[in-house]
Amino acid sequence: MNLKNLLIAMSITLWFVSCQSGLSEADKGEYLERGKKIAAATAESMLAEVGKNMKEGGVAQAVPFCNIHADGLTTEMAQQNGVSIKRTSHLLRNEKNAPNSREQEIIAQFQKLQAEKQELSPVVEQNEDGTVQFYAPIKLAQKCTVCHGVLGETLTQTNDSIIKIIYPKDQAIGFKEGDLRAIWSIQFPKK
Ligand code: HEC
Repeated sequence: MNLKNLLIAMSITLWFVSCQSGLSEADKGEYLERGKKIAAATAESMLAEVGKNMKEGGVAQAVPFCNIHADGLTTEMAQQNGVSIKRTSHLLRNEKNAPNSREQEIIAQFQKLQAEKQELSPVVEQNEDGTVQFYAPIKLAQKCTVCHGVLGETLTQTNDSIIKIIYPKDQAIGFKEGDLRAIWSIQFPKK
Protein backbone atom coordinates (compact mmCIF):
# COMPACT_ATOMS: atom_id res chain seq x y z
CA MET A 1 0.00 0.00 0.00
CA ASN A 2 1.44 3.40 -0.87
CA LEU A 3 1.43 6.27 1.59
CA LYS A 4 -1.55 8.01 0.06
CA ASN A 5 -3.73 4.89 0.23
CA LEU A 6 -2.54 4.20 3.74
CA LEU A 7 -3.57 7.71 4.81
CA ILE A 8 -6.97 7.31 3.19
CA ALA A 9 -7.47 3.95 4.87
CA MET A 10 -6.43 5.42 8.22
CA SER A 11 -8.77 8.37 7.97
CA ILE A 12 -11.67 6.14 6.96
CA THR A 13 -10.97 3.93 9.96
CA LEU A 14 -10.79 6.94 12.27
CA TRP A 15 -13.99 8.39 10.86
CA PHE A 16 -15.70 5.05 11.29
CA VAL A 17 -14.51 4.62 14.86
CA SER A 18 -15.58 8.15 15.82
CA CYS A 19 -19.02 7.65 14.29
CA GLN A 20 -19.53 4.37 16.10
CA SER A 21 -19.31 6.15 19.43
CA GLY A 22 -18.03 9.60 20.29
CA LEU A 23 -16.82 8.25 23.60
CA SER A 24 -13.52 6.50 24.10
CA GLU A 25 -13.38 3.61 26.54
CA ALA A 26 -11.50 5.88 28.95
CA ASP A 27 -14.25 8.52 28.70
CA LYS A 28 -16.91 5.88 29.30
CA GLY A 29 -15.08 4.60 32.37
CA GLU A 30 -14.79 8.11 33.74
CA TYR A 31 -18.52 8.86 33.26
CA LEU A 32 -19.39 5.50 34.80
CA GLU A 33 -17.43 6.32 37.93
CA ARG A 34 -18.82 9.84 38.17
CA GLY A 35 -22.38 8.62 37.57
CA LYS A 36 -22.11 5.94 40.23
CA LYS A 37 -20.75 8.44 42.76
CA ILE A 38 -23.46 11.02 42.06
CA ALA A 39 -26.24 8.41 42.22
CA ALA A 40 -24.90 7.02 45.50
CA ALA A 41 -24.53 10.48 47.05
CA THR A 42 -28.05 11.50 45.97
CA ALA A 43 -29.55 8.27 47.33
CA GLU A 44 -27.68 8.77 50.58
CA SER A 45 -28.87 12.34 51.09
CA MET A 46 -32.48 11.35 50.31
CA LEU A 47 -32.40 8.35 52.62
CA ALA A 48 -30.94 10.42 55.46
CA GLU A 49 -33.83 12.88 55.18
CA VAL A 50 -36.49 10.18 54.77
CA GLY A 51 -35.04 8.27 57.74
CA LYS A 52 -35.11 11.39 59.93
CA ASN A 53 -38.75 12.09 59.01
CA MET A 54 -39.76 8.44 59.48
CA LYS A 55 -38.28 8.52 63.00
CA GLU A 56 -40.02 11.74 63.85
CA GLY A 57 -43.48 11.06 62.43
CA GLY A 58 -43.58 7.78 60.49
CA VAL A 59 -45.00 7.45 56.99
CA ALA A 60 -47.56 10.21 57.67
CA GLN A 61 -44.70 12.71 57.94
CA ALA A 62 -42.15 11.15 55.57
CA VAL A 63 -44.48 10.92 52.55
CA PRO A 64 -45.49 14.60 52.51
CA PHE A 65 -41.82 15.42 53.12
CA CYS A 66 -40.81 13.45 49.98
CA ASN A 67 -43.60 15.11 48.03
CA ILE A 68 -42.25 18.56 48.85
CA HIS A 69 -38.51 17.93 49.02
CA ALA A 70 -37.54 15.00 46.72
CA ASP A 71 -37.33 17.31 43.74
CA GLY A 72 -35.33 19.95 45.62
CA LEU A 73 -32.85 17.38 46.92
CA THR A 74 -32.10 15.99 43.47
CA THR A 75 -31.85 19.49 42.00
CA GLU A 76 -29.39 20.48 44.72
CA MET A 77 -27.20 17.44 44.05
CA ALA A 78 -27.47 18.09 40.32
CA GLN A 79 -26.32 21.70 40.67
CA GLN A 80 -23.41 20.71 42.93
CA ASN A 81 -22.21 18.27 40.27
CA GLY A 82 -23.04 20.27 37.15
CA VAL A 83 -25.36 17.56 35.80
CA SER A 84 -29.09 16.85 35.63
CA ILE A 85 -30.46 14.00 37.73
CA LYS A 86 -33.65 12.07 37.23
CA ARG A 87 -35.16 8.98 38.85
CA THR A 88 -37.67 7.35 36.59
CA SER A 89 -39.68 4.13 36.56
CA HIS A 90 -42.14 1.85 34.76
CA LEU A 91 -44.31 2.07 37.92
CA LEU A 92 -44.54 5.69 38.99
CA ARG A 93 -45.58 7.38 42.14
CA ASN A 94 -45.09 10.94 40.91
CA GLU A 95 -46.00 11.41 37.25
CA LYS A 96 -43.41 14.18 37.02
CA ASN A 97 -40.80 11.40 37.00
CA ALA A 98 -42.16 9.80 33.80
CA PRO A 99 -39.55 8.13 31.53
CA ASN A 100 -38.75 9.31 27.99
CA SER A 101 -38.58 6.72 25.20
CA ARG A 102 -34.89 5.89 25.68
CA GLU A 103 -35.39 5.54 29.43
CA GLN A 104 -38.29 3.17 28.76
CA GLU A 105 -35.99 1.04 26.60
CA ILE A 106 -33.30 0.97 29.27
CA ILE A 107 -35.85 -0.06 31.92
CA ALA A 108 -37.11 -2.83 29.61
CA GLN A 109 -33.50 -4.02 29.06
CA PHE A 110 -32.87 -4.14 32.81
CA GLN A 111 -36.18 -5.98 33.38
CA LYS A 112 -35.23 -8.56 30.78
CA LEU A 113 -31.78 -9.08 32.31
CA GLN A 114 -33.33 -9.38 35.75
CA ALA A 115 -35.86 -11.96 34.53
CA GLU A 116 -32.89 -13.92 33.13
CA LYS A 117 -31.21 -13.62 36.55
CA GLN A 118 -28.31 -11.69 35.04
CA GLU A 119 -26.43 -8.90 36.73
CA LEU A 120 -27.57 -5.33 36.00
CA SER A 121 -24.74 -2.89 35.30
CA PRO A 122 -24.85 0.86 34.66
CA VAL A 123 -24.86 2.07 31.04
CA VAL A 124 -23.14 5.13 29.53
CA GLU A 125 -23.99 6.47 26.09
CA GLN A 126 -23.65 9.70 24.16
CA ASN A 127 -26.83 11.55 23.14
CA GLU A 128 -27.21 13.01 19.66
CA ASP A 129 -26.60 16.52 21.00
CA GLY A 130 -23.22 15.48 22.45
CA THR A 131 -24.35 15.28 26.06
CA VAL A 132 -23.63 12.02 27.88
CA GLN A 133 -26.22 9.91 29.66
CA PHE A 134 -25.64 7.56 32.59
CA TYR A 135 -28.28 4.98 33.48
CA ALA A 136 -28.21 2.68 36.49
CA PRO A 137 -30.70 0.32 38.09
CA ILE A 138 -32.38 1.20 41.40
CA LYS A 139 -33.25 -1.98 43.24
CA LEU A 140 -35.67 -2.04 46.12
CA ALA A 141 -34.10 -2.45 49.55
CA GLN A 142 -35.98 -3.90 52.47
CA LYS A 143 -36.31 -0.46 54.12
CA CYS A 144 -38.18 0.85 51.05
CA THR A 145 -40.99 -1.70 51.38
CA VAL A 146 -42.79 0.32 54.05
CA CYS A 147 -43.79 2.71 51.21
CA HIS A 148 -43.34 0.61 48.03
CA GLY A 149 -43.96 -2.95 49.23
CA VAL A 150 -46.70 -5.51 48.75
CA LEU A 151 -50.07 -4.27 50.03
CA GLY A 152 -51.24 -6.14 53.12
CA GLU A 153 -47.78 -7.67 53.55
CA THR A 154 -44.92 -5.21 53.82
CA LEU A 155 -47.06 -2.17 52.99
CA THR A 156 -49.93 -1.66 55.45
CA GLN A 157 -53.39 -0.49 54.35
CA THR A 158 -52.96 2.59 56.56
CA ASN A 159 -49.68 3.59 54.96
CA ASP A 160 -51.07 2.95 51.50
CA SER A 161 -54.06 5.23 52.23
CA ILE A 162 -51.72 7.99 53.37
CA ILE A 163 -49.73 7.65 50.14
CA LYS A 164 -52.89 7.60 47.98
CA ILE A 165 -54.09 10.91 49.47
CA ILE A 166 -51.13 12.72 47.89
CA TYR A 167 -50.66 10.32 44.95
CA PRO A 168 -54.11 9.02 43.96
CA LYS A 169 -52.68 7.47 40.78
CA ASP A 170 -49.74 5.82 42.60
CA GLN A 171 -48.47 2.71 40.82
CA ALA A 172 -45.23 2.32 42.80
CA ILE A 173 -46.26 -0.51 45.13
CA GLY A 174 -46.07 -4.29 45.02
CA PHE A 175 -42.27 -4.41 45.01
CA LYS A 176 -40.24 -7.03 46.82
CA GLU A 177 -36.71 -6.63 48.09
CA GLY A 178 -34.28 -6.84 45.15
CA ASP A 179 -36.89 -5.96 42.50
CA LEU A 180 -36.04 -3.37 39.87
CA ARG A 181 -37.82 -0.32 41.26
CA ALA A 182 -36.53 2.37 38.90
CA ILE A 183 -33.45 3.76 37.17
CA TRP A 184 -31.16 6.71 37.60
CA SER A 185 -30.81 8.84 34.48
CA ILE A 186 -28.01 11.36 34.87
CA GLN A 187 -27.04 13.74 32.09
CA PHE A 188 -23.55 15.20 31.77
CA PRO A 189 -23.02 18.33 29.67
CA LYS A 190 -20.90 18.31 26.48
CA LYS A 191 -17.17 18.36 27.21
C1 HEC B 1 -41.64 7.21 53.59
C2 HEC B 1 -42.06 6.54 52.39
C3 HEC B 1 -41.01 6.19 51.37
C4 HEC B 1 -39.92 5.37 51.54
C5 HEC B 1 -39.43 4.70 52.80
C6 HEC B 1 -39.31 5.27 50.23
N1 HEC B 1 -40.02 5.99 49.31
FE1 HEC B 1 -39.67 6.11 47.31
N2 HEC B 1 -41.09 7.52 47.12
C7 HEC B 1 -41.90 7.96 48.14
C8 HEC B 1 -42.67 9.10 47.68
C9 HEC B 1 -43.68 9.88 48.49
C10 HEC B 1 -42.27 9.34 46.34
C11 HEC B 1 -42.72 10.44 45.39
C12 HEC B 1 -41.75 11.63 45.53
C13 HEC B 1 -42.06 12.78 44.60
O1 HEC B 1 -43.17 13.31 44.67
O2 HEC B 1 -41.18 13.12 43.80
C14 HEC B 1 -41.28 8.32 46.02
C15 HEC B 1 -40.65 8.22 44.79
C16 HEC B 1 -39.68 7.31 44.52
C17 HEC B 1 -39.01 7.22 43.24
C18 HEC B 1 -39.20 8.13 42.03
C19 HEC B 1 -40.01 7.52 40.94
C20 HEC B 1 -41.51 7.65 41.15
O3 HEC B 1 -42.16 6.60 41.19
O4 HEC B 1 -42.02 8.79 41.26
C21 HEC B 1 -38.11 6.20 43.35
C22 HEC B 1 -37.16 5.71 42.27
C23 HEC B 1 -38.21 5.68 44.69
N3 HEC B 1 -39.19 6.36 45.37
C24 HEC B 1 -37.43 4.65 45.18
C25 HEC B 1 -37.34 4.34 46.53
C26 HEC B 1 -36.35 3.45 47.09
C27 HEC B 1 -35.31 2.68 46.28
C28 HEC B 1 -36.52 3.47 48.43
C29 HEC B 1 -35.69 2.78 49.49
C30 HEC B 1 -34.25 3.00 49.44
C31 HEC B 1 -37.66 4.33 48.71
N4 HEC B 1 -38.11 4.83 47.54
C32 HEC B 1 -38.19 4.54 49.98
C33 HEC B 1 -42.00 7.41 49.41
C34 HEC B 1 -41.04 6.58 49.96
